[in-house]
Amino acid sequence: PDLITVQELAQRMAMRSTDLIRELMKQGQMVQANATLDADTAQLIVEDLGHSVKRVSESDVEDGLIAEANPDAERVSRPPVVTIMGHVDHGKTSLLDALRQTNVVEGEAGGITQHIGAYQVKAPDGKLISFLDTPGHAAFTSMRARGANVTDIVIIVVAADDGVMPQTIESINHAKAAGVPMIIAINKIDKPNVDPNRVKTELLQYEVQVESMGGEVQDIEVSALKRMNLDGLLEAIQLQAELLELTADADRQPYGTVVEAQLDKGRGSVSTLLVQEGTLKRGDIVVVGAEWGKVRALIDDQGHQVKEAGPSKPIEILGLNGVPEPGDQFAVVEHEARAREVAEYRARKKREKANAATSGTSLEQMMAQL
Ligand code: GTP
Ligand code: MG
Repeated sequence: PDLITVQELAQRMAMRSTDLIRELMKQGQMVQANATLDADTAQLIVEDLGHSVKRVSESDVEDGLIAEANPDAERVSRPPVVTIMGHVDHGKTSLLDALRQTNVVEGEAGGITQHIGAYQVKAPDGKLISFLDTPGHAAFTSMRARGANVTDIVIIVVAADDGVMPQTIESINHAKAAGVPMIIAINKIDKPNVDPNRVKTELLQYEVQVESMGGEVQDIEVSALKRMNLDGLLEAIQLQAELLELTADADRQPYGTVVEAQLDKGRGSVSTLLVQEGTLKRGDIVVVGAEWGKVRALIDDQGHQVKEAGPSKPIEILGLNGVPEPGDQFAVVEHEARAREVAEYRARKKREKANAATSGTSLEQMMAQL
């Protein structure tokens, strides 16, 4: 059921909550500012106070938030978005770090890499690849469950000395279910007495036939630790990306997905976003999940302030009024009022859900019992 707090209701009628509480008391209702009212009760109160009611439905708020793609727009090619998955300790983080160092860290003071949720790397052909440093399965699954299929290619890391393990199989299943092509990176080939062919044979059991066994799935032997064949992996990604013909409309209304977000002591709400379509600019008004704000700064993966970020670009933004969740979608809107309306509506929905989960009974059920 739709719920609204006394405080919110007062705000909408441009009334102080204490005054509304007093009105409710006159009608024999003892409530506090944070008490929730169901839509029917709220409507009665509002009408009693001489206001007219406009009920807002989900479609009122959400429809048209992200405009339809323009079929005549020029679409430009965009970098692939890659997620690395695999079994525990098989070298996901090492591989991400190694790839990043290859191209990014050189300019960094003392080679200290600050943590960021996503970054871009240049492939040997000079084109960019975006990597998502997600905590693996959980984020991937939740993003997918929420319809935010941001990943174009999944790299499955398999340690040559350990072979196919439960989370390897899980990763393969995730990629298959999402319809995302995979590349097998057989890692730790620097270790003595390892046999990459064993891994390839094991993969056959899970219907993954790699190219070097005559199949279709690209396989690359690497060592994240010794930085062996990283270019080969980047080339494999580029090859796969070309087959996918990834494009975007850089001129349309921007939207994309939250990769991670946190509250920073000095800077406030900091969110790493992946732009999927359009170009996000400084000063844009964004709705991000149940939060909103004016983009105060855009910071790229090397810590530089930039004015805008186009398709497939991971970017940190400052200026939101709260902290969104990974997997939340963002959209740029025209006016602050629109942003506030959407964010408030979603925040209210979230609260309702949380209330229903903690109380165990919905207001509707409670009413039915009376
Ligand atoms: P989780 O995040 O815990 O699932 O692990 P991960 O997959 O991120 O693995 P991580 O990169 O932390 O590596 C696990 C261990 O394997 C570390 O001790 C690494 O140093 C080691 N390792 C990673 N890559 C290689 C490699 O290419 N060769 C060798 N010899 N060791 C490696
Ligand atoms: Mg790790």
